[in-house]
Amino acid sequence: MTNIKELESTISKLTVAGKGILAADESTGTITKRFQAVGIESTEDNRRAYREMLITSPEFNRYIAGVILFEETLNQNTSQGISFPEALKNMGVLPGIKVDKGLVHLANSLDENITQGLDGLPERLAEYKSKGACFAKWRSVYTISDKTPTSIAIETNAEVLARYAAICQEQGIVPIVEPEVLIDGDHTLARCEEVTEPVLQAVFNALYRHHVKLEFIVLKPSMVISGKACPQKASVNEVAEATVRILRRTVPGAVPTINFLSGGQTSEQATAHLNAMNQLAKLPWNLSFSYARALQDYCMKTWQGQSKNIATAQKAFSKRAMLNSLAAQGKYQESMEKEEISLAS
Ligand code: 13P
Repeated sequence: MTNIKELESTISKLTVAGKGILAADESTGTITKRFQAVGIESTEDNRRAYREMLITSPEFNRYIAGVILFEETLNQNTSQGISFPEALKNMGVLPGIKVDKGLVHLANSLDENITQGLDGLPERLAEYKSKGACFAKWRSVYTISDKTPTSIAIETNAEVLARYAAICQEQGIVPIVEPEVLIDGDHTLARCEEVTEPVLQAVFNALYRHHVKLEFIVLKPSMVISGKACPQKASVNEVAEATVRILRRTVPGAVPTINFLSGGQTSEQATAHLNAMNQLAKLPWNLSFSYARALQDYCMKTWQGQSKNIATAQKAFSKRAMLNSLAAQGKYQESMEKEEISLAS
C-alpha cells in the first residue's frame, strides 16, 4: 500500500518556490574523472570531505531543498560524527539517493543503452529509506544521431523508468524520473526538439500504464538545446521557448515540478536558460534545477582538495545556488554574474 502522506510531505518540501535540488550523486567512477580533471585525488575521504563542504556552504538550505546522494555518501559520516542524511535533515534539507546501477548496451539497438538496477530494488529502497532517504533518482540516456534514438531505446527506457517510479512510490519514496537526451553531437536545436518530444511522450505513456501517481514525481529532463558541436548555437530564448513548447505538449499539469539537469552546459548557460523559461507566460509546473556540474564546477576547481580553499570554494557554490534560485523565479540577470555576493555564514 502506497503511503500517500509520506509522498505528499516529501513532494511539498521539494517544490518550495526558488529552491532546487543538488545532484551530488556522481558514481565513484564519475567523481574520480571530475576530481582528476582538476588535480584532486579521489580517495574515499576526499569524496566525503568534498561533499561535506558542499552541504555546509553558506545559506545552503535557503536555495537547496534536497540533495541526491551516491550510496557511498549515504553511509558516510560528516566530521561532526553524524550521517549525511541526518546532517541534511538537521538543516531542513531532504536526502535522496541515486538508485540506478548505470548503463549497459541495449541489445539490437544502434549502439544505445538501457539503465539497469531493477532487480532487488524494493529491498534496496527499504534499506535506503531506513537510512533516511526520502526520494530517489534513476537516469535514462538517449543519444542523438540521424538514426537515434531508435524506437526500441525510447520504449524500453520508458518502461524501465516507469517500473522504477512505481516501485519507489510503493515504498513511500518520491521518484525523480530522469530521461536525459545527451547534448553530445552536432545536431541542431530543431533535431533535439524532434527527438525530445517522443522521448517524453513515451515516458508519460509508460508512467500511465504503470499507474504512477504523477502528483508525486519529480521530472528531471534535459533542456531542448543545440548539440555541443553544432555550428549554429541556439540563443537563450530559442532554448527556453523550444524546451517549454515540448514540455507543454508532453508533461501533464499534474506533475508538480520539473527540475532540469545541466547536461554539460556551462554554469552560466544553465542558469540563463532556466531563468528565461521562468520568464515565459504562466507555466503549469514549478520549473527549477537539479544540477550537478552547473552548481559544482567552480566550487570543485577552487577547492583543489585543500582545506585552506574551503571558504572560497563554498562561496563559489553558494553563488551558483543563489543565482539558480533566482533563475527558478525568473529574477536572474546576467550582470549578477560579476557582482560580489554577500552571504550569511
Ligand atoms: P548534470 O547537471 O551535471 O548534468 O548532472 C545531473 C545529474 O544528476 C546527472 O544524472
